[in-house]
Amino acid sequence: MACRESDKATGACLKRAVVVVHETMESYKQYLSDLRNEQDTKQPPEQLGKKIFTAQCTSCHTDDGRPLIGPTMKGNYGTPRKMSDGSEVVMDENYIRESLDTPNAKIRAGFAPAMTPFAGRLTENQIKALIAYIQSLK
Ligand code: HEC
Repeated sequence: MACRESDKATGACLKRAVVVVHETMESYKQYLSDLRNEQDTKQPPEQLGKKIFTAQCTSCHTDDGRPLIGPTMKGNYGTPRKMSDGSEVVMDENYIRESLDTPNAKIRAGFAPAMTPFAGRLTENQIKALIAYIQSLK
């Protein structure tokens, strides 16, 4: 492999160019998603969760207490909330997972069933990160 930058004193190679050849578009896409997954798992979960929340959830949810199209996520973890059918649900890991998978399984009282399902659109690592972030919003 060609050396792109070597140490002037010792001649040791500091930077090498790496060329990855992909035979198909599928294999290239897999490579990109593996790379993204690897970067994801290197970040602290809360930090990654904040990033995903900002990119995918803030069109409908805030993290500062204000309701938007959906309820705020601030101060909610571990607290009970009223559903439109009169039942009560405590916001925990399972409830967040269910909300992402099938948002209309339980509808929060006072809100429209307007959430887009995220089933299959988030990796397990991203879901864990979102839960860690929501948990951190005291
Ligand atoms: C298009 C708007 C929209 C987007 C985008 C959206 N949501 Fe929602 N979400 C809602 C609405 C509206 C509700 C309330 C109705 C219901 O319970 O389904 C809700 C409810 C929830 C609840 C239950 C809250 C409670 O207090 O009961 C959770 C948890 C949740 N969303 C998480 C998320 C996360 C995490 C994301 C981003 C990955 C997200 N939502 C993206 C609209 C959205």
